[in-house]
Amino acid sequence: MKIGVLGSGIVGKVLATGFLKHGYKVMMGTRSPDKLKEWAGQNPGGRTGGFNATAQFADLLVLAVSGNAAADALRAAGTANLAAKIVIDATNPIAEAPPVNGVLRYFTDINESLMERLQREFTSAKFVKAFNSVGNAFMVNPQFKGGKPTMFICGNDDAARKTVTGILDQFGWETADMGMAEAARAIEPLCMLWCIPGMLRNEWTHAFKLLT
Ligand SMILES: NC(=O)c1ccc[n+]([C@@H]2O[C@H](COP(=O)([O-])OP(=O)(O)OC[C@H]3O[C@@H](n4cnc5c(N)ncnc54)[C@H](OP(=O)(O)O)[C@@H]3O)[C@@H](O)[C@H]2O)c1
Repeated sequence: MKIGVLGSGIVGKVLATGFLKHGYKVMMGTRSPDKLKEWAGQNPGGRTGGFNATAQFADLLVLAVSGNAAADALRAAGTANLAAKIVIDATNPIAEAPPVNGVLRYFTDINESLMERLQREFTSAKFVKAFNSVGNAFMVNPQFKGGKPTMFICGNDDAARKTVTGILDQFGWETADMGMAEAARAIEPLCMLWCIPGMLRNEWTHAFKLLT
């Protein structure tokens, strides 16, 4: 499976490197491929290019751009290049306004997530929320004394969620499948919760686990 990672930030780089490590063919997309020269030098198996070329290349896409640029990045990727493809959505709708007492502010509200907005605009893509609720240092094969952490996922396509669950198995996660896209209303704010100990006490080395 060929993976196209939209985004040149730390999340894009970490996930792209993780997919390469697990044997996938990977291309990273950005508006300015120069930004990825160092990554390309360190990862000779990986390709880099624009958003559109990356989406054309990919069988499965990872969306790893800032939340307020998510729709623009997907438009630049080209609607036709998203058709019938899984889009793993790692974004969070973080607003520009500063956090309040360590709590990030979002530009969405509790009854409408960013992923639902994206799914409505890009109807032919199969969005699956994942990787948004943990810091990038723990996205690929995290090691915690408390065992495997839990990644909460959701999306409207059952088969797409199964495919992403398989990827999360390889990436060392236990998956909690929360069903349809509306569940992103609950999963996106997990990033707020994850960041609070960091903002208040500079503690950034944790992940969520669902006990049953
Ligand atoms: N940092 C973390 O540990 C973490 C953890 C979980 C989830 N997340 C989420 O993951 C996403 C990526 O985070 P990040 O920290 O790696 O990077 P970021 O700084 O949030 O985003 C960088 C990316 O956004 C793109 N971008 C910015 N403005 C754009 C525009 N107007 N049009 C198109 N693209 C635009 C940039 O494109 P260019 O490449 O063209 O500059 C770049 O690829 C965010 O939504 C974040 O909330 C982050």
